[in-house]
Amino acid sequence: MYRELMMDPYDRYELMVNGTTMKTPLVLSSMAGIVDAEYVKPRSDAVGMACIGGYSIDETTMAASRALAEAGREEFLYDNAIAALSDEVAKMAETGVICALNLRGSSPSSYRAVADAIGPSVVYEIDAHCRQEPMIAAGCGEYLLKNPDQLYLTIAALKDAGVTVSVKIRAGVAEDDKALARGIWQAGADILHVDLMDFGHTKLRQIRNSCPLLIIANNSINTFGIAKDMLAHGADMISLARQAGPENLRSIAESLARYADETGWYNAPKQLCRGGDIRSLTFCCMPVKQCPLLPTLEHLDISRNEFMSLKLDLVKKTPLAAGENTCFGSLAWCCKSSTPCMFRNMALKQEGLSLHDYMRYKHRLADKLMERVFDADGYYATE
Ligand SMILES: Cc1cc2nc3c(=O)[nH]c(=O)nc-3n(C[C@H](O)[C@H](O)[C@H](O)COP(=O)(O)O)c2cc1C
Ligand code: SF4
Ligand code: SF4
Repeated sequence: MYRELMMDPYDRYELMVNGTTMKTPLVLSSMAGIVDAEYVKPRSDAVGMACIGGYSIDETTMAASRALAEAGREEFLYDNAIAALSDEVAKMAETGVICALNLRGSSPSSYRAVADAIGPSVVYEIDAHCRQEPMIAAGCGEYLLKNPDQLYLTIAALKDAGVTVSVKIRAGVAEDDKALARGIWQAGADILHVDLMDFGHTKLRQIRNSCPLLIIANNSINTFGIAKDMLAHGADMISLARQAGPENLRSIAESLARYADETGWYNAPKQLCRGGDIRSLTFCCMPVKQCPLLPTLEHLDISRNEFMSLKLDLVKKTPLAAGENTCFGSLAWCCKSSTPCMFRNMALKQEGLSLHDYMRYKHRLADKLMERVFDADGYYATE
């Protein structure tokens, strides 16, 4: 067991969901008929959140579940959805794992009824992922990806109930995943849980660059190496379903903890010129040379002058304002800690900062840059 596993999890990941600290950015992804509170128990020390279900929540979707069960698929079957879900939520409270309910409903009002009955202690995950015909015919799963207005109405209905909303999507089904991500954000969702299928981190980066939501990356992320790659391309969390055995989860959780403690920012992006997402503007130099920064700023409709004053303003009164002897006179413009640099490291030493502290300040700067990119007046998407 990793010796430092008991470190304060907020300090380690600075990650909260539904007002609760995520002890690790690992999430259990739903499998209908399989993932419930009993399934979570033996995995509870290794995951921060579990999306239990999927659960059908009205007569139309329950009829679809029964049809699927008759055809041999695993499904959770019950007569009273609210009673069955309330039982699961009570059992989940004993696990110390944040509970998300993965739900299939045939109308926004069905979701709203569950949220009104169960309340804000859990996350409500809309299943816009299922590709089984009976579910699509019932108006959920992929139906919502093809009819995004219905999805947005469902998000709005849940948000009106004052709860945290996640949307589970499958990449490559909607007409345009970037537009869908923006729409989900603008409809008020909090979390985007994306099954990347075979599209990998290129698709993830596009989605990251289209919205400021918390993103859970999913599909075949079964090792620490793959998890690290997804985290460096825009994921805040990663989820597992088919290979979520307790031992595998524990091994990934331990490696993540070690990596977070070593680096100070567990999901730091790659630098922009190495394929990083928008958050990597935090590591970018002054815009003085021909490199990927200039077209990116142009796409974001941020002038060079605005970018310069923005970064310098954002680091004022923070240790990143120091660094006179670095390339551009301030640590605001300095590279990621994985790029070795004597000048940056000397500046950090003078300020009494470790590389780990440096990355934490760069993380805060990235958050503020994201606020500017996704400001109230507009939103932008880049490749
Ligand atoms: C048997 C089975 C049942 C599933 N049921 C659901 C479901 O009810 N709701 C949902 O959002 N995803 C469901 N999924 C999809 C998984 O949550 C996950 O997105 C997919 O398996 C890819 O992740 P993995 O490679 O970690 O398994 C199911 C997957 C499997 C294999
Ligand atoms: S500004 Fe620097 S870090 Fe950013 S893309 Fe250009 S060379 Fe790379
Ligand atoms: S001083 Fe070093 S870390 Fe800073 S911008 Fe120059 S090369 Fe990068």
